[in-house]
Amino acid sequence: LDNGLMRTPPMGWLAWERFRCDIDCKNDPSNCIRYGGRVGTGGTGLSLCERLFRDMADRLAEDGWRELGYVYVNIDDCWSSMERDKEGRLQPDPDRFPGGIPRLAQYIHNRGLKLGIYGDLGTHTCGGYPGTTLDKVAVDAQTFADWGVDMLKLDGCYSNVTEQAKGEEEEEMEKEGGRERTDEEGNDCCGTDGEKERVREGRDEEGPRMTKERRRKRDERGYPLMSKALNATQRPIAYSCSWPAYQGGLPPDVNYTQLGEICNLWRNYDDIQDSWDSVLSIVDWFSDNQDVLQAAAGPGRWNDPDMVRQSLSLLEQSRSQMALWAIMAAPLFMSNDLRTLSSEARAILQNKVLIGINQDPLGVQGVRLLKEKSRIEVFWRPLVDSASALVFFSRRTDMPYRYRTSLLNLGYPSGSYKSSVVVKDQRETERELEERAVYDVFTEKTLPVLKHDTYFTVSINPTGVVTWLLTPTMHWGQAQETMTYNF
Ligand code: DGJ
Repeated sequence: LDNGLMRTPPMGWLAWERFRCDIDCKNDPSNCIRYGGRVGTGGTGLSLCERLFRDMADRLAEDGWRELGYVYVNIDDCWSSMERDKEGRLQPDPDRFPGGIPRLAQYIHNRGLKLGIYGDLGTHTCGGYPGTTLDKVAVDAQTFADWGVDMLKLDGCYSNVTEQAKGEEEEEMEKEGGRERTDEEGNDCCGTDGEKERVREGRDEEGPRMTKERRRKRDERGYPLMSKALNATQRPIAYSCSWPAYQGGLPPDVNYTQLGEICNLWRNYDDIQDSWDSVLSIVDWFSDNQDVLQAAAGPGRWNDPDMVRQSLSLLEQSRSQMALWAIMAAPLFMSNDLRTLSSEARAILQNKVLIGINQDPLGVQGVRLLKEKSRIEVFWRPLVDSASALVFFSRRTDMPYRYRTSLLNLGYPSGSYKSSVVVKDQRETERELEERAVYDVFTEKTLPVLKHDTYFTVSINPTGVVTWLLTPTMHWGQAQETMTYNF
C-alpha cells in the first residue's frame, strides 16, 4: 500500500502468541490483556497501572528496542467489550482498559512508540467479541483514528457480506452446534487455523459453515473498503490484512497485486504456535510458494509469516527463526514477555546485523536456494549495494553437520538463482564480484575473503543456522547505482 508507511518490514511487539485471550486479571494480573487498574490496590491512577501494554511500552523504550526499530505495541483480540456503545462504536472492556484506548495511545506515543489494534471483518472476532460488519467499516476506521491508533490488523473470522447473510450464517453455525469458543490451549477463544485449513483443503465448500464463494465476496468488498476508510480518516494508519490467510494463501483465490495496493502487510498462512513444528511448517509453506510470494513483497507491502514466538526452548531455534525471518523480509513482531526475557534471547532479537538484513532498503524478499538430501537448506537474500545474506539451516536433529559447498555452487557471483531471480548488471564484471568479505552474524567474526570457487565447510548445529552477510570486496563507485534486480 502506497501510503508512505512500512517501507521496510514493521517491527515491534504483538500480544497474541504469548498472551492470547487471557482476560483473567483477578488470578493472573500480570499476564492478562489489559492496560491498567491493578487488582487489589483499589487505585486507578496512572502510577498504579503498570500492566501488560504499558509494561511492554516501557521495556521497548528503556531496554534499547525502540532505537533498533521495534516501535509498535500491538493489541490483538479480546480487548473490547461484548457490546458496542450507544453510537455503535467499538469500546474497550471498561475493567481492563479503564482509561480507554486514547490514554493508552498517549502513554505509548509519549515514549516514541506506536499503537496497533485488532479488528475482524465479520460478525465476531475469532475470540467472540464484536466484529466489523460491512456497515461498520467506516465508523470503526474513524474510531481507531480518533483514538490515535497507528496500525490495524484486520482478522477474518465469522465474516459476512450483508446483514441478511449474517443472519443466515449465525443460523448455520447454531445448527452446527455453535461457534467454536476455545483454542487448542483451551483459552476462551478460538484460533482460526481450523478455518484456514478447511479453506486450503477446499473443505469449506462442503460444510454449511461458510462457503468459499461467500468468503470471497465478503473479503472482496470488506478489505478494500477498510483500506479506503482508513485513508479517509487522514490519519496514517498502517493496514495489516488477514485476507489471504482465509483464502488459502495462493492465486487464483488471492490476488497479490490487489493486496499490495490496499494493504501494508498480510498474513498468508496459519498462526504461529510456540512449537518448533509450527515454525518449520511456516518456513516450508513460504518456501514452497516463494515464487508467488517473493514477487508480492516490497516496500510498503509485506508477506507476514506471523510473530517471532516467545519461548524458544533452544536458543538455536531462536536464532534460526530470526535469521529466516530476516531472509523472508518478514515483519518482526515479537510475542514474548519483555519483562522476563533472558539476556541470550534478547541478544538474538537485538542483533543489529540481522535487523539490518531484515530492514534492507532494497526490500527484496529472500528465497530458499536449495534443499539438500542431508536436510540442510540454504536461504539467500539480495541486499543493497550488491551485498547478500546466506543462511545455512539444519533440519537435522542428530549432531552438528559439516556442510561443504562453494559460492559458485550457490549461484554466486551472478547468474540464475534457483528462485528464478536473475541478478543482472551491465557494468559489473564477474571478476569484480569474485571475492566476497564474509561476516558471520552470530559468531560476530569476519572470515577470510572468499573466492567464488573456493570450497568451504560450515558446521551447523541441529535445528540451527549459520548466517552470513556477504559484501563484495571490490567496489565500483557510481556503477552501484545502476545495479538492477530483474525478476
Ligand atoms: C487469528 C489470527 O490469525 C491470530 O493471529 C490472532 O489474531 C487470533 N485470530 C485472535 O483471535
